[in-house]
This record gives sequence, C-alpha cells and structure tokens, in this order.
Amino acid sequence: MSPSTTIMAPYKINVDMDTSLLQQLNRIDSAILNNEDERVALVHAMRAALSRIETPWESALQIVFTQPSVFAALKTCVDAGLFVQWLQQPLHGEPASASTLARLVDVDEMLLSRLLRHLAATNMLHEEAPGVYRLSRFAHSLGLPEYASMLPFLFETSLPGFSSLPAYLQSNKYANPADAKATNWHYLRGVSRFADLQSRPSEMATFQLMMTTYAANKTSWVDLYPVENEILRCAESTSSSALVVDVGGGRGHDLQRLLHLWQGLLDGNNTARIVAPTPGQLILQDRQATLVNAVGESLIRKMAHDFFQQQPVRGARVYYLHTVLHDWPDREAGVILGQIGLAMQVGYSRLLIHETVVRTDEVQDLSEWKKTTSDMQMMMVLSSAERTEQNWRELIARAGLTVVKIWNSGASAESIIEVVKDK
Ligand SMILES: C[S@@+](CC[C@H](N)C(=O)[O-])C[C@H]1O[C@@H](n2cnc3c(N)ncnc32)[C@H](O)[C@@H]1O
Repeated sequence: MSPSTTIMAPYKINVDMDTSLLQQLNRIDSAILNNEDERVALVHAMRAALSRIETPWESALQIVFTQPSVFAALKTCVDAGLFVQWLQQPLHGEPASASTLARLVDVDEMLLSRLLRHLAATNMLHEEAPGVYRLSRFAHSLGLPEYASMLPFLFETSLPGFSSLPAYLQSNKYANPADAKATNWHYLRGVSRFADLQSRPSEMATFQLMMTTYAANKTSWVDLYPVENEILRCAESTSSSALVVDVGGGRGHDLQRLLHLWQGLLDGNNTARIVAPTPGQLILQDRQATLVNAVGESLIRKMAHDFFQQQPVRGARVYYLHTVLHDWPDREAGVILGQIGLAMQVGYSRLLIHETVVRTDEVQDLSEWKKTTSDMQMMMVLSSAERTEQNWRELIARAGLTVVKIWNSGASAESIIEVVKDK
C-alpha cells in the first residue's frame, strides 16, 4: 500500500440501507455490554447474521483459503517471536510499523508486511495508518505463553487429525467411531493420541498448556458447584484423609483453584467452620509422564495412577473427573467409573463429573457450537463423544452409581454432574 493511500473504514461504503445499523455495528465493543450472558448472546446473534448475509462464494473463500492462510500467518508470527517481543520493551505493545516489527524479529520486511496486511484484513490486527499496526485483543493474547500454545496444538493435532478424518470415516463405511483401539489417530499414526504424546515430549507440553488455557476459559468448577459448603466445611484440622482426588487431573490447575479459594476464605476471616488445608487432603492423580509438568504446590500430593486400575485412595469426600470421560468411549468410561465407584463410601463420598452435557430439548443453547466443536474433536482424536444428559445417566447407572443433580451456570458450556453411591 502506498503511503498516500487512505485507509477506508470497513463500513463507509455506499450501500442503500439504513446506515444507522452500520453505525451501531461500528460502535460495538465489549465495553458496552453489561454482563457475560449478554456478550455471549450478541456473539451468537452476530455470527448467525453473518452467515445469513455472506454469499456462498464468500463462505467458500473463508473456509478454503482465508482460514488456512490466517493459521499459517499467525503461526509464522508466533514462531518468529513477534507477539512476545512486541509486548516487551521497547514497544510495550504500542502500535508499530511493519519495518520496526521486521527489525524487532529479524524477518524480511517484505515478507512480514504481507503477513501483517493479511492479519489486519482479517481483523487479527488493526491497521491504524498505512503500514502501521496495532495489536487486537486476540493478537495481544498471542504474546502470552498460554495462548501461544494454541497454535502449535492446531498444527500438531487439529490440522493433521481433521485432514485425515473424512478418509478414516469412509474407510469405516461411515460407522460411528466408538473403538478406542481403532481411532482416526491410529489410522493416521498407528497409535492412540495419548501413546503418541508420550513419545513426543514437546507435543505433550503443548497439549498440557493448551488444556490449562482451555480450563482457564471455562467456568471453573468452584463456580459451578458449592465447594465451600459441600467440600471445604468437611475438612477437619486433624484429618489427613483425602478431601478431593482429582483423577486424570493433568497439571493440577483445578486443585490449585480450589486451594486458592480455600486460602482466600481463610484470609478473608470467613472461617467460622473452615480449617486450613493440610498436606494429603488434595490429591492429584495422573500418569507419571503428565505429573512431571504438574504445578508445584506443596499442599497438593501428586500420585501416579492409571485410572483403569484399582483406585488406591478409598473413601475420599470427593472424586473429581474433569474432561476425562469425554476422552473415552462407553466401554472404557465405564471401567474408569467402576474403579472410582468401588472406592467410594456410601453416604459420604461423591463423584463430581465436570463435563459438557449436550442439550436435546428445544431450548436454545448459545454454547452449542462449543459443544459440537468439542464433540468433533473427540471423534477425530479418540473415537469418543460429548454426551447428552440421557447418555450420561445411562453410563453412570451402568456403573452402579446415582446422579443426584446436574449443576449448570448461565451460558456456561459445562456442567457438574454430582453422583453418589447408594449401596
Ligand atoms: C483431557 S485431559 C484432562 C486433564 C484435566 N482433568 C483437565 O481438565 O485439564 C485427560 C487427562 O487424562 C490423563 N490420562 C490419560 N490416560 C490416563 C490413564 N490411563 N490414567 C490416568 N490418567 C490418564 C491424561 O494424562 C490427561 O491429563
């Protein structure tokens, strides 16, 4: 773009329509919204409106050319360290020209200009003046390690996996994938994704960081379930018995959240019947290879455990399973539930299953796209699925356990299914 060219505001075009609508759209940003539910509803409405006004050719262009090229441009910029360096001195995230940014990351100026122009044209960045770019909220997030890990995950898992999915489904004569030993990943690489990750430490680290980011952007379990009354008030000062066992807990971010809440309640003098945590009350279980990257909280006991084997911690107040069962088809999920069920104490223990519950009634579900996206991801990687309420109830009943309540919150895509053992 030559320096004399003026940048056209995207909506100042000569259209024969109510321009107040365009003006309103131009004014929208997150600051005008009152709360999260309103924001989610507006995103939903605007996406739906876009799909109604795009031509088929524009939709095809988006899917076939634009999205893959945006992925590649973003990944190239992340790999070159652009967003991380942009946030550091001397720029501190301030708008910068393509030539300044090219010198910052040692990328050919012509190349970087082309990438930046594409990212600005697709709203990933803002072009403030010809050749001068400002970080969008999203581009800013890519300077942080949690979000930067999403792009390697895209290239290591989502893109190869979804590329092979149609051929895999065709090779299975379009049967619904439900065999954990014959997944799309076996078709692609000859092993399960988890086994594959064990032999690829850097991909394992990407996966775990991505899971942490994923969890940070979901409604936390401590906000979905009354943990203060149902868990923390059960802790005794003398007790070293297990309060919460996070089975398949990954890096331990959910226990860490609980611990922070617990310590916050104590600091806030809201302590009438709450005692301080003691070592051994919070137990993080996962495979040894995963625990290596776990958070370093001394109050959280790390325990290598295979959840298909006998549960070594008996009679804990809470066994917690967060996005574990959706990784497994019903047969394997039933074994995991069965092992926990055997360890539960009737009348005291409860199992909290933190998962998506897919709606099948007629109520509009604004988070459905997140649930169906996750369902496709599960199908692609693991031959598993996101379950409906009926699927969940049947699976849990087959394991000899009983659903007490399903806890939901606002527009959150996840629920907590509270389960007990009756006999
Ligand atoms: C989708 S991640 C969920 C992690 C964590 N609960 C969260 O929500 O972020 C599934 C976890 O199951 C663990 N896992 C897989 N197979 C396992 C097994 N046989 N025994 C114990 N953990 C296993 C993985 O290492 C991973 O941490």
